[in-house]
Amino acid sequence: MQPETIATRPIDGQKPGTSGLRKKTQTFMERGFLENYVQSTISGIGGVDGATLVIGGDGRFFNADAIQTILRMLAANGATRAIVGRDGILSTPAASHLIRLRGAAGGLILSASHNPGGADGDFGLKYNGPNGGPAPEAVTDRIHAATQVIEEYRTLPTPDIDLGVDGTVQVGDMTVEVVDPVADYAALMESLFDMDAIQSLFAGGFRMRFDAMHAVTGPYARDILEGRLGAPAGTVVNGTPSPDFGGGHPDPNPIWAKALMDEMYGPDAPDFGAASDGDGDRNMIVGRGAYVTPSDSLAVLAAHAHRAPAYADGLAGVARSMPTSGAVDLVAERLGIECHETPTGWKYFGTLLDAGRVTLCGEESAGTGSDHVREKDGLWAVLLWLNILADTKMSVADLMEAFWRDYGRCYYARHDYEDVEAARAQAVMDGLRDRLADLPGTVAAGLTVTAADEFAYDDPVDGSRATAQGLRIWFDGGARAVFRLSGTGTVGATIRLYLEQPETDPARLALDPSDVLTPVAQAALALSNLPDLTGRDAPNVVT
Ligand code: G6P
Ligand code: ZN
Repeated sequence: MQPETIATRPIDGQKPGTSGLRKKTQTFMERGFLENYVQSTISGIGGVDGATLVIGGDGRFFNADAIQTILRMLAANGATRAIVGRDGILSTPAASHLIRLRGAAGGLILSASHNPGGADGDFGLKYNGPNGGPAPEAVTDRIHAATQVIEEYRTLPTPDIDLGVDGTVQVGDMTVEVVDPVADYAALMESLFDMDAIQSLFAGGFRMRFDAMHAVTGPYARDILEGRLGAPAGTVVNGTPSPDFGGGHPDPNPIWAKALMDEMYGPDAPDFGAASDGDGDRNMIVGRGAYVTPSDSLAVLAAHAHRAPAYADGLAGVARSMPTSGAVDLVAERLGIECHETPTGWKYFGTLLDAGRVTLCGEESAGTGSDHVREKDGLWAVLLWLNILADTKMSVADLMEAFWRDYGRCYYARHDYEDVEAARAQAVMDGLRDRLADLPGTVAAGLTVTAADEFAYDDPVDGSRATAQGLRIWFDGGARAVFRLSGTGTVGATIRLYLEQPETDPARLALDPSDVLTPVAQAALALSNLPDLTGRDAPNVVT
């Protein structure tokens, strides 16, 4: 069958952000928008002639239609095989695993992660490379450059194929292999953890609630938790993926997973609560009356990872994104292992993981993962927590308390100022950047600035440099405030203000984080002029 070449012209705004291209679903559905971006991706990665690619998404509105378009274009561009999750479903970590398992040239993941879905929600597309991880910036830059000069795209005039049945089907000369989205991933999880110990935990009456938030992890969690580990039916709630995530916001944090939080802080709370996001790479962990911040979760997992078979020999090193708290650094220091501070975005962990320099990594934005795949992995984090709880026989609250007594506590919060006019957000960042050098010695809200800079990162493996990755201010007493613009939004700009206050005084380990962090927030706001420049005097979301 002859490919068709369709004339097109560049469409503005096709620059990939923190995690691929994210736009309103309606924008993605505009004539030529998806096609332009897919063809530009193909150009940016040097073509797909003869290649095998993995394709899947989180099942949100437009997922299946977009996959049909992508398959026709891959076939027209010479790909020989596409491995697609049944019904177009693959969680992001499962896609990462499949790319690695099958030695694919890469994959296309359709998701806007935790952003709401539906016809009026968000949609996204990203390319992951042969290591299973998000494309590095050099590649996304090439993709973006291609979107600016594109003149035509290639496709095949073939009908849609049935994605609902496992097996192979042809799209032109390309073989499409429809696979069970869960099986390979579940087998990987079984190979990492002490499944017997977790099974005994559940058999002993341990109660858990996993909120899949109507998103992609439902089938994975049911299979692994209720199927293989014997957790009682009903452990997984909101477990059927829906195109608009049940009208919700599938972001696992105390704000959007409020129902789970209420249950975990209520009178009949289970022992353990967890949630995952739209595409299954994020996680939230909450014990009975004990929410665990993502930064603390990473640190606790690093400290106890050796309890799981996959990490029994210890960790090569750990990495965290810059705005993530320094709790894991304390663990790394104790263990005598490497600890890396990278820019926000999972893609920056890739080289370190590939080089075997880090085993565990994580971010304040509810992502934790390891070298088993090249994405963060929500269910993996939940299973490692379960393995640790099974082995220590401690409750989440006791485990956290013991951890803080041992290492000190990094009080932490993130304040988001969402949907700020882009120019105003830029003015906040530019103004603060200009004053950084003068800040040391300045007193704001009773705190004295000790240092301030703009974060840049030199990758120790490939030597690449990422600049302008966030403005940092340190205060007397060790507190830190970081300002960053989100790279995942689709409307206006979101200013993120990350606040941290380390505490080692044993009498001050059980304070309310917001009490501890209010002075740091006040100082940061005063120094940045954010309220004046944006007209906002409070964040819309605090996590
Ligand atoms: C995605 C990325 C993460 C990143 C997060 C926050 O989930 O995969 O690596 O930390 O977005 O990004 P943002 O730019 O919105 O702060
Ligand atoms: Zn996600």
